[in-house]
Amino acid sequence: MVHLGPKKPPSRKGSMADVPRDLLEQISQLETLFTVDAHKLCTIVDHFMKELEKGLSKEGGSIPMIPTWVMTMPDGKEKGTYLALDMGGTNLRVCEVELLGNRDFDITQSKYHMPEEMKTGSSEQLWDYIADCLQAFLQSHHPNDAQKELSLGFTFSYPCTQTAIHNGVLQRWTKGFDIDNVEGHDVQPMLEAALKRKNVPITVTALINDTTGTMVASNYTDPETQMGVIFGTGCNAAYFDVVKNIPKLEGLVDLAPETPMAINCEWGAFDNEHVVLPRTKYDIQIDEESPRPNQQAFEKMIAGLYLGEIHRLVMLDLHEQGFIFEKQNAEKLKKPYSIDASLLSQIEEDPFENLTEVEDLFLSRFGIQTTEPERKLLRRLAELIGTRSARLSAAGVAAICKKMGIEKCHVGADGSVFNKYPHFQERGAEALAEIFGWHDMPPTHYPIKVQPAEDGSGVGAALIAALTLKRMKEGLPVGMKPEIIEHLAQEHK
Ligand code: GLC
Repeated sequence: MVHLGPKKPPSRKGSMADVPRDLLEQISQLETLFTVDAHKLCTIVDHFMKELEKGLSKEGGSIPMIPTWVMTMPDGKEKGTYLALDMGGTNLRVCEVELLGNRDFDITQSKYHMPEEMKTGSSEQLWDYIADCLQAFLQSHHPNDAQKELSLGFTFSYPCTQTAIHNGVLQRWTKGFDIDNVEGHDVQPMLEAALKRKNVPITVTALINDTTGTMVASNYTDPETQMGVIFGTGCNAAYFDVVKNIPKLEGLVDLAPETPMAINCEWGAFDNEHVVLPRTKYDIQIDEESPRPNQQAFEKMIAGLYLGEIHRLVMLDLHEQGFIFEKQNAEKLKKPYSIDASLLSQIEEDPFENLTEVEDLFLSRFGIQTTEPERKLLRRLAELIGTRSARLSAAGVAAICKKMGIEKCHVGADGSVFNKYPHFQERGAEALAEIFGWHDMPPTHYPIKVQPAEDGSGVGAALIAALTLKRMKEGLPVGMKPEIIEHLAQEHK
């Protein structure tokens, strides 16, 4: 039984009456392994808060807590046309965003497939491909004013150290990317060089993270938004802190102590030391076999890239121990990352008590004939993995709120898991209620609401470009002191 608190679990349980005892035992062991009860959640939140602080300190910690140089929320009056480029993890998207000045906008966009090989290819290939996509976009949308210099908000959603709003040195790839010669380098000159080579008249005005974009875009349409989170291929959050709470900026900035500063947490790296997260042997295997072992411990238990893989590893293990798919050829299940989170969604959403849709799915996808009790185990496993993801995500949101003393706010959330995974939102809200003790409240009254965001990587990037140009016009800083930017830039050439 999963401890979902006092309310009824949101997911239909189905009957386990016909499940034989050995499988019931396996289910019960999986429940123990994957359940994060309220007490454990609170322990995680406490540790998380300390780690957020540590990331802001001079010594630093494993959560990067990156100052983004986004220092104002929009007032809704922003106007103008900006380009946005979104390199998130799955696709590449180019947008032209027209800010209309009344908390409204218009967007024209094209999506370009990001070939799988590119994720582990060469740096030149990547930047050239991105420049080609931008060029193709301009050619189809601006065939007549090809030479007009355009301002770009570049959403590059990987941990980047920023000395100013327009640059970012990639700390390390996440989300399965492994492209040589990018880590340790500033990505802005690399993109601009590729644009120059191809004669594409675009300047990178702001380099942003999807979470920061999500927070700003959501705040544009809903000023109660104080945080942006992504639960998609990866998982991360941004919030507004103030300069005096960020000891690692001491001496590097000319900013008043109360100046707001958006922080890209990169919380996927929470608990890389493995102190508090209840990792299973499957999580450990995923980590060890990933291109970046010992990184992104939190993300690897939550994000869309990994949910299907966790399910696959459990199934294979149970099969190899002789508990499921007896006499079936499970060869197709052996391919790493062959299952993505959408399969888990389909399993959870099968409306039939005997799970015939799951039966068809396994037959067509993997050539495996399943029994009804096996399918019940598979569904319970999907529920457990999806619920754990939602509850751990809530722990992150709660940690930021507690650190900042926020008792009431809206959190703009985006990403495939948040938007598409069944019950993710309700399960997350229940976990928040357990952490904060909102026992006697209907969910509609919960003071902290994680809700669907505006398009952060498109509209958010454009807004941040607009806000940056405005600050620059007013002579306000958009980064560290100029001499420090110059000095650090030399180091990363
Ligand atoms: C990964 C990236 C982070 C991004 C998140 C969601 O965690 O490191 O920058 O925000 O995925 O896309």
